[in-house]
Amino acid sequence: MNKATRKAVIAGNWKMNNTPAETAALIDAMKPLVKDADCDVVLCVPYIDLFAAMDAAKGSNIKIGAENCHWAEKGAFTGEVSAKMLNACGVEYVIIGHSERRQYFGETDVTVHDRVRAALNEGLKVILCVGETETENEQGITAEVLRKQTKIALQGVSEEELKSIIIAYEPVWAIGTGKTATAEDADKYNGIIRACVAELYTAEAAEAFTVQYGGSMNAKNAAELLSKVNVDGGLIGGASLKAEDFSIIVKAASI
Ligand code: 13P
Repeated sequence: MNKATRKAVIAGNWKMNNTPAETAALIDAMKPLVKDADCDVVLCVPYIDLFAAMDAAKGSNIKIGAENCHWAEKGAFTGEVSAKMLNACGVEYVIIGHSERRQYFGETDVTVHDRVRAALNEGLKVILCVGETETENEQGITAEVLRKQTKIALQGVSEEELKSIIIAYEPVWAIGTGKTATAEDADKYNGIIRACVAELYTAEAAEAFTVQYGGSMNAKNAAELLSKVNVDGGLIGGASLKAEDFSIIVKAASI
């Protein structure tokens, strides 16, 4: 098996951008541009925009996700939203473990694991983010960091449940900086994540497993990154806020 047997997933991560009205307008603009995609197209939006996004995307090939979820079903967790609530609202995907959550909101490998568990329990599809910081990259420990984050997040996840997870390799130093990993490095580190999945499960499970790249992927560099055998799509920040740019990336993944 190889890349040809894995459907690419292009996902936008809007982060803390767009009101509900802006959400509807941007999705309306994107719909005709991505309708012929030969890849899965997902937009992960702020909680407050989920209903507007699902409404706007209705009847199109765009799937909607949230940007995080809590590990508990309910309770005294002011400001949080549970996986159960997302599922009840009809949300299909959720990003977990984004480096901005790890960096600014105290997310650890263990809480990432707990949130993955909660999302799977609710039947959500998970985009699990892993990635090394600039310092870790300079220290030459990228592979170890990716393996550790992957192994802890996937603890107790069955091979059947693994089918509901994709991993996004997002080097922290490449996010929002305009610095992108070289296509060779993206391929190499995505391959290391895939090998880790093979170690934890089976070679077949790893071959079928989607590993995205994220970090300053844009309309200009997407085609080269996506041409690599281990790069099965992208998690796109800034460029997913522009209909035209996002659609160019979707088209690059559809070849
Ligand atoms: P940028 O594409 O803006 O670098 O963001 C990447 C990202 O963090 C996606 O989750």
